Amino acid sequence: MEIVNDVRDNLLAQIAASDTPRDVLKSANLKKLYSQITTLPAAERGAYGKTINELKLELEAAINLREQVLDDATVEPLDVTAPWDKNASVADLLPTEFGSQHPLTTELDNIIDIFTRMGFEAIESRQVDDDQHMFATLNFHENHPARDGYDTFRTEEGFIPPAHTSTMQNRILKAGKAKLEAGGQIAAISYGRVYRNEDVDATHEHTFYQCEGVFVSKGANLGQMLGTLRSFFETYYGQKLKIKTQPGYFPFVEPGLEFAIEKPAALGGKPGEWLEMLGCGMIHPNVLKAAGIDPEVYRGFAWGGGVERLVMLKYGIEDLRHFESGKLAFLRKFL
Ligand code: DAH
Repeated sequence: MEIVNDVRDNLLAQIAASDTPRDVLKSANLKKLYSQITTLPAAERGAYGKTINELKLELEAAINLREQVLDDATVEPLDVTAPWDKNASVADLLPTEFGSQHPLTTELDNIIDIFTRMGFEAIESRQVDDDQHMFATLNFHENHPARDGYDTFRTEEGFIPPAHTSTMQNRILKAGKAKLEAGGQIAAISYGRVYRNEDVDATHEHTFYQCEGVFVSKGANLGQMLGTLRSFFETYYGQKLKIKTQPGYFPFVEPGLEFAIEKPAALGGKPGEWLEMLGCGMIHPNVLKAAGIDPEVYRGFAWGGGVERLVMLKYGIEDLRHFESGKLAFLRKFL
């Protein structure tokens, strides 16, 4: 009996570790146990035979279970981004039923909600663009020194993955021209991914998100712009905020401003700690002209800035690189 028990433990361990568990039934040790029957006195054969039969059933059950486990492992979720042969041995991927929305998507939805409630139309920006929209229609002439500040990627054919969402301004203005002429106004935001050829660190990424706003009417002015921005930031952070502006240079606005908020105490800020949130200003007459809008009749204001920065302040995130990292430890904090 002791020998039977030893063989049982040994074979069960082999089954649990094997990729071909059924082979264990052919083991020499098992065969030896069978052949033992003939050597036993007739009186003991019945009991021994029964024990061996039970052992065989137990091994069968263990083999079936192991085969089931191996089967399940081969239908684990596919990593569609992996090299073609990678899914053959899928490791511990996150099954899709446990997936969740990326925090940037959630926050962009929030931002879009706030602006659409204020009457702005929301338009996603393009991810492939050209010099015309990246620079020319935004009042950067061909050799404008401010072009260098945008660290723009460019293909040999002249395509540009946009370095800012301002690429959408000319399209928004052209599409809204008829509305203006019918006595209405243009109010739109555009949001999306932008790209810069930059060295990556805790506050710089080659890939990030921006959100841009454009408003044009007969009487648009800076007071309306500051009211709109204050209202947006106070809604987004759910509290009253101190705001300030200082002069800033962007070829597509005149005057151009940088807009800052005082870091709220509730988010770890000290009085007098200002955070620059975006660039803004009155739309330059040349930008209106490039869209066929008469700057003598209409005025506009625009603003634009990074989305990650807003989200980092809201949640106390210390490193911009988390967003594009795909690290589950980071993403799970937003479940
Ligand atoms: N496009 C600018 C940037 O990425 C930000 C910006 C500044 C957008 C002023 C605007 C604006 O619409 O008026 O640096």
